[in-house]
Amino acid sequence: MSERFLNFIAGEWCPATSGKWLEDRNPALPGEVVATFPDSEKEDVDRAVRAARRAFREWSRRPAPARGEVLYRVAELLTARKDAIAALMTREMGKVFVEARGDVQEAIDTAYYAGGEGRRLYGETTPSELPNKFAMSVRQPIGVCGIVTPWNFPVAIPAWKMFPALLCGNTIVFKPSSETPGVATKLVEVLSEAGIPPGVVNLVHGSGRSVGNAIVDHADVNLISFTGSSDTGKAIAASCGKTLKRCSLELGGKNAQIVMDDADLELAVEGALWGAFGTTGQRCTATSRLILHEAISAEFVKRLARRAAALRIGNGLDPEAEVGPLVNAGALAKVTGYVEVGKREGARLVCGGERVRPERCPDGHFFAPTIFAGVRRDMRIAREEIFGPVLACIDVPDFDEAVATLNDSRYGLSSSIYTRDVARAFRAMRDIEAGITYVNGPTIGAEVHLPFGGVKETGNGHREAGRQVYDVFSEWKSIYVDYSGRLQKAQIDTHPLTGG
Ligand code: UN1
Repeated sequence: MSERFLNFIAGEWCPATSGKWLEDRNPALPGEVVATFPDSEKEDVDRAVRAARRAFREWSRRPAPARGEVLYRVAELLTARKDAIAALMTREMGKVFVEARGDVQEAIDTAYYAGGEGRRLYGETTPSELPNKFAMSVRQPIGVCGIVTPWNFPVAIPAWKMFPALLCGNTIVFKPSSETPGVATKLVEVLSEAGIPPGVVNLVHGSGRSVGNAIVDHADVNLISFTGSSDTGKAIAASCGKTLKRCSLELGGKNAQIVMDDADLELAVEGALWGAFGTTGQRCTATSRLILHEAISAEFVKRLARRAAALRIGNGLDPEAEVGPLVNAGALAKVTGYVEVGKREGARLVCGGERVRPERCPDGHFFAPTIFAGVRRDMRIAREEIFGPVLACIDVPDFDEAVATLNDSRYGLSSSIYTRDVARAFRAMRDIEAGITYVNGPTIGAEVHLPFGGVKETGNGHREAGRQVYDVFSEWKSIYVDYSGRLQKAQIDTHPLTGG
């Protein structure tokens, strides 16, 4: 039986003004409608923004430690509901249940981190250059934040954005992916039950075209935080540029793992397997290029292909399954198309390369873990984000060429090098152009207390998670208090020592 999810505006659960509904289907069993949810439009967004604006004054004035207390309760409720939310996530977007639990755990970790930040949220005090004058900087909330998120981490990514935004005193209009309306609704239920006041978090379901654009273009939204494709990110940045709206963008990746000739090969195989085929390759941090020293390449590809071919593909709720389906028919068509491109470009298909029809879910959007060897840097499969279980292996003669190949990309999110040579490891940490570098670990698995984001077309310079995300969701204000009782002129009044 399918559920019916609703929008949440000004503390009330409500359908779209249009009265229209969309369907959310299970990618493992496309015949199953998991839920219906509102097909909202600009009018719904307008109401949500008005509610968020109204709620801003009171929420932003609540002491930050008290805002943090609410987030601790959010963490507790998410912990209690972890399995239920994870199971719904698997039914909505396909990732295997253990990974769905990990997704919820990432939100729990973020809630505790943000809650603690309520008692820090540090500004600075610093001596003034003038006598009897006090100088400090403080963080202030920004206002109404538009949060637009993807389906691949449908609880963790909204949490990365919303929890720090709330802690900083902002209010929110949240538009989740239309692939995952259910878990987004569960997350908002948790926020509301934990004590987030009406209007502080508003949920508007619907398509990117109507709801997403209406949020991005809205004159009374102060900030957009978006995770998704680089093309959509560029369009959002252009729109925000018109009014200089702040926007924080987490976009595409074409992440590579380097394996040097001195690496622990078994360890590197494990890493590549998890990095490339975990979450069916549908992470922005997924390994989609493998850069192999030519001395170990043939042996490495052989071992990896053996392991990849043995991965169990199936419904993510089946405890045996290691790799779930792609998110929808469009993703299946896209991945299939890239396999054809790879073959046409002359890469050698080592394993996979085709749709899979598991016994109990033959109509699901499953695709076999796929490895191409003999890939050249200029091939499309080495350059474009595929967002599926397709790995392009490129051979290189030495370390310098490995790093140059890794850097030969318009993206720069995550990266990895397997080597036992400490000097090479440190050179890689310095020279790789990416926001995240792993040494002897796969490209996926970022932790919530470190900054997350990338260089080049992966983003626009902001970071999520860590301390750094608090810069996205707050405005700095510098404050000078002159208690000298006279007019003092900075940079002009004579300095006692330099006579300046
Ligand atoms: C994403 O794919 O957008 O580092 C987020 C990781 C996860 C987050 C991925 N912690 O792989």
